[in-house]
Amino acid sequence: MDFKVRAAHPQEAFAVSELAALTFPLASPPTLAQAHIDAYVRENLTPEHFAAHIDHPEHDVLVATVGKELVGYALLLFGPDGAPAPHLGVTLQQAGLLSKCYTVPEMHGKGIAAALLEAAEERARERGVEGLWLNANADNNRAQRFYTKHGWERVGDIDFVVGEVVHHDPVFQKPVFQKDV
Ligand SMILES: CC(C)(COP(=O)(O)OP(=O)(O)OC[C@H]1O[C@@H](n2cnc3c(N)ncnc32)[C@H](O)[C@@H]1OP(=O)(O)O)[C@@H](O)C(=O)NCCC(=O)NCCS
Repeated sequence: MDFKVRAAHPQEAFAVSELAALTFPLASPPTLAQAHIDAYVRENLTPEHFAAHIDHPEHDVLVATVGKELVGYALLLFGPDGAPAPHLGVTLQQAGLLSKCYTVPEMHGKGIAAALLEAAEERARERGVEGLWLNANADNNRAQRFYTKHGWERVGDIDFVVGEVVHHDPVFQKPVFQKDV
């Protein structure tokens, strides 16, 4: 599979938003009502939200492309927006949040999400944080297996709200620098 991972361009805010809205339900449990998914998309994943992320000095939007088509994206928040609350179990001194890492279903299992993850970790190194943290839906076994096999460790839990529904999600972290031994 010939693909590329790079930073999103400002003019791609609409396309990334479309991809985000299309793929967000893939990470949610099948029992979650469409109305709650729609509310989350409206409140977090519009073109305006992505234009603001792309423009923000402490946020990164990465995209994976096959030819001209966007097939995956990752959203990273550094600085205060990405700092984990103390009760979440994250032990890294300074951590960025991997807020989203999504690929279209046709590209699952093809190494594209792994490349997005690698690029996200590289971004974290460039930003000088000790590592990254994230939360995944408790029923999203594929995502949890994906992160675990790439060296992420479960450290705690978070209440994550989609629409009006509170999900108790596992929290994972990963240091991005090798420790000297
Ligand atoms: C999660 C995601 C980024 C992972 O990317 P991917 O290319 O599918 O990941 P991979 O195929 O490399 O790894 C998935 C692993 O989960 C395993 N897996 C698949 N379905 C599974 C299931 N139902 N339960 C447990 N493990 C499962 C796969 O076998 C694979 O493990 P293996 O390599 O040891 O065999 C991608 O599936 C995706 O975009 N999903 C929808 C959005 C999402 O959930 N994003 C994450 C939000 S936190």
